[in-house]
Amino acid sequence: MRVGILYSRIRRDEKLLLSELRDRDHEVVKIDVRKQQFNISEAPEAFTDLDIVVDRCLATSRSVYATKFAKAYDVPVVNGPEVAETCADKVKNSLALVDAGVPTPDTDVAFTKDAALESIEDFGYPCVLKPVVGSWGRLMAKIDSRSAAEAILEHKETLGHYEHKIFYVQEFVDKPGRDIRVLAVDGEPIAAMVRSSDHWLTNAAKGAETNEFELDDRALELVEKASAAVGGGLLGIDLMEVGVSQSDTRDASGDEPRAEDYTVHEVNHTVEFKALNEVTDVDVPAAVVDWLESKAASESDAEVTA
Ligand SMILES: Nc1ncnc2c1ncn2[C@@H]1O[C@H](COP(=O)(O)OP(=O)(O)O)[C@@H](O)[C@H]1O
Ligand SMILES: [Mg+2]
Repeated sequence: MRVGILYSRIRRDEKLLLSELRDRDHEVVKIDVRKQQFNISEAPEAFTDLDIVVDRCLATSRSVYATKFAKAYDVPVVNGPEVAETCADKVKNSLALVDAGVPTPDTDVAFTKDAALESIEDFGYPCVLKPVVGSWGRLMAKIDSRSAAEAILEHKETLGHYEHKIFYVQEFVDKPGRDIRVLAVDGEPIAAMVRSSDHWLTNAAKGAETNEFELDDRALELVEKASAAVGGGLLGIDLMEVGVSQSDTRDASGDEPRAEDYTVHEVNHTVEFKALNEVTDVDVPAAVVDWLESKAASESDAEVTA
């Protein structure tokens, strides 16, 4: 197949993907989105005869627009623009999860400092303030007191970009010093890991320790639902364990305490997988390419029948 890759920087994740595609003799067209002019009616040269295009843009805004254009040029794109749009925005992400009946941390959105402060006081301390658009744990605030809340809100309101004037306030989940990242294709997990840290942010990008994690039936069910909630595709689903806190210790047999349930805090659409590939025996890039092949094949079947 002829596969386009939308990118701005080739990271280790993209390298893994490219080498797997080339090993299988697929033709790869690298599309550096910084160099493209996306015409509204005519597809650029790079989009000609592609069987599928994979969005690997780092910047969310580029992801959202580049995938819209791919779709407009009638090139099958993963993940699609609607998925990108939902996942790129934490408000849309949360609404989609709730709509699909997936447990997710309770959240308020407010447009002014005073309204946000009221939400914060209602949730109590600590609670969490997140940027609506962002990743890698950046600009996240765990708020421990009213005075901290006032300061952070004032900073955001005065210094922030307009996106930071949408205040996303969330209950703090007393998770056991770790969260779970599942890489899934259309709701089917490829592999999963836990990210552990003494810091409340357990993103791999923040230096959390990563280990493979085996999903139980409940987690599998939630991964499938969370994926469908945002429209499916190649996704990174983030879950926290509920009912087992940081202070719970291993029992006498050395077994870890098991979670009573999970809560899904977000679904990511241009997911990194290098860390996961290192902790699991699963060949992650191979599984991703398997899925891309099946996706491209089903798209071309659909075209024949159309
Ligand atoms: N409500 C919460 N309670 C406790 N910890 C949280 C909560 N939300 C997020 N976290 C921690 O912060 C990390 C980053 O949060 P997340 O919503 O995934 O933002 P990002 O898009 O920056 O990854 C999570 O991996 C988790 O460790
Ligand atoms: Mg995250």
